[in-house]
Amino acid sequence: MTNAYKIIDHTYDVVIVGAGGAGLRATLGMAAQGLSTACITKVFPTRSHTVAAQGGMSASLGNMGEDHWNWHMYDTIKGSDWLGDQDAIEYMCREAVPAVIELEHFGVPFSRTEEGKIYQRPFGGMTTNFGEGTAQRTCAAADRTGHAILHTLYQQSIKHHAEFYIEHFAIDLIMVDGECKGVISLDLATGILHRYQAHTVVLATGGCGRTYFSATSAHTCTGDGNAMVLRAGLPLQDMEFVQFHPTGIYGAGVLITEGVRGEGGYLTNNEGERFMERYAPNAKDLASRDVVSRSMTMEINGGRGVGPDNDHCYLNLMHLGNDVIEKRLPGISESARIFAGVDVNKEPIPVLPTVHYNMGGIPTNYHGEVVTLKDGNPDTVVPGLMAIGEAACVSVHGANRLGSNSLLDIVVFGRAAALRAAELIKPGSPHKPLTPEDSAPALDHLDRIRHAKGSTGTAQIRDNMQRTMQKHAAVFRTGDSLQEGLVKMRDIVDSFDDVKVDDPNLIWNTDLVETLELENLLHQAQTIIYGANNRPESRGAHARDDFEERDDENWMKHTLAWTDEKANVSVDYRPVHMYTLTDDCEVIPPKKRVY
Ligand code: FUM
Repeated sequence: MTNAYKIIDHTYDVVIVGAGGAGLRATLGMAAQGLSTACITKVFPTRSHTVAAQGGMSASLGNMGEDHWNWHMYDTIKGSDWLGDQDAIEYMCREAVPAVIELEHFGVPFSRTEEGKIYQRPFGGMTTNFGEGTAQRTCAAADRTGHAILHTLYQQSIKHHAEFYIEHFAIDLIMVDGECKGVISLDLATGILHRYQAHTVVLATGGCGRTYFSATSAHTCTGDGNAMVLRAGLPLQDMEFVQFHPTGIYGAGVLITEGVRGEGGYLTNNEGERFMERYAPNAKDLASRDVVSRSMTMEINGGRGVGPDNDHCYLNLMHLGNDVIEKRLPGISESARIFAGVDVNKEPIPVLPTVHYNMGGIPTNYHGEVVTLKDGNPDTVVPGLMAIGEAACVSVHGANRLGSNSLLDIVVFGRAAALRAAELIKPGSPHKPLTPEDSAPALDHLDRIRHAKGSTGTAQIRDNMQRTMQKHAAVFRTGDSLQEGLVKMRDIVDSFDDVKVDDPNLIWNTDLVETLELENLLHQAQTIIYGANNRPESRGAHARDDFEERDDENWMKHTLAWTDEKANVSVDYRPVHMYTLTDDCEVIPPKKRVY
């Protein structure tokens, strides 16, 4: 059966899968250093999900008041609820400053201060002097920062002659004796398979927000790289930590940037009360996202939500005035009008916590190299494989990511991966030929899905999964509800054995692609809900009603989760890196959080 496929072969020094901000920053960096570089992407690069990032990218430039990378590092560790690896966090916060300046030089059109410096706004959890004041640290291009960065990085990648394979769906990694040797993709327009041999494959495939029903993520956010890693017998890390963004538009899930609250917007309940003052007297509406999302949920559960069903909250920005709104928040004004029918100058926006980001992903070190637990060593590097961006778990976000640390993460670690690849790979060095057996698992996988002759439609199984995850692995979790969810998810995963792909055609077969994506999502959903049930504590975005306290003694450790063919999950653990890279900063020991 597998011999039936026509395959086009390629060899490169490096292949990047995914053309969001992380993928493009790595692509440009690798190409610029003389490595032959290909980037495979299932959507046109400038349609990648980074385009939807709004509020900005953190870096302690100090353009709008005193700032220091050490303060940024402290905030990030505290925000991570002490699950972040402190060496990687130090690296990210230090490198933030040169990384943003470099972006400016590449041509990113940042908003400006009166003096012409990069404009920076306050964001949740970003403080000065170790929690004393409010930092203005988030570098913004109005509220379209991801759009600006993505377009610039794509142009720079073209300038450096990176080669793009656009609208190619990556099927699987080629793994030989535990090493990654390449990847296989399906060209959606022609239906022809492409096999890429590379010294390093970099997965920059984003998160899996679409495991849930309501998400700010694009429909393409199906975590394909994460699932390829699971099929390669490698683990994902900390998947139970799923971030809910406080302000998704009610009913539509579309993002309204935290930058609104950074510019002075605030949340209210049905009594018109600014309720965040009660939950977080210091940080108020700029508390970290886990805190704001939980507070909103408590208001709604307490009967103080707004709307006919008391099931959401209001985000007020009318008082900011038209000038600020037009200059700093033009994009969300349009989104509010289109998706909520609201004129933000006159009315509040109806909002609800909405799935936004996966803190978990493919475990890596701060060079972007994928690591696994082998022979007792939790930092064993998987040769030939890197992961960056939301697909990766470095882990700089731990149990909860601070807003604007994601655009930072993708740029800093895209760049780090390029630097590492240039150290490891001699441009043009030869490849050992692949055998037909090396590609067989990927082709068998494609064949199995393509010829699935069951009776259940992909959309129905996906809907069941998304609703189950939304209900049972939500902002607040309890053992009973998680266990009920696990039972339901088992049935849903089993129903995939009966999935039906109507048409085996390979040319622009969206049913086939969505079924491959659904299989990817199912495995990740299993690691999320299993991990959540397995962790009897509350930490960051993982809030258990039945275990309300953080348990540092037993659970300050990363979860590693593997799945088998039937998406049964098994787990092990990695220690958190409670050490720094240099002596310029101190390890920040766990303590109780004050908001
Ligand atoms: O609210 C926002 O603009 C989102 C930013 C982020 O997730 O980092």
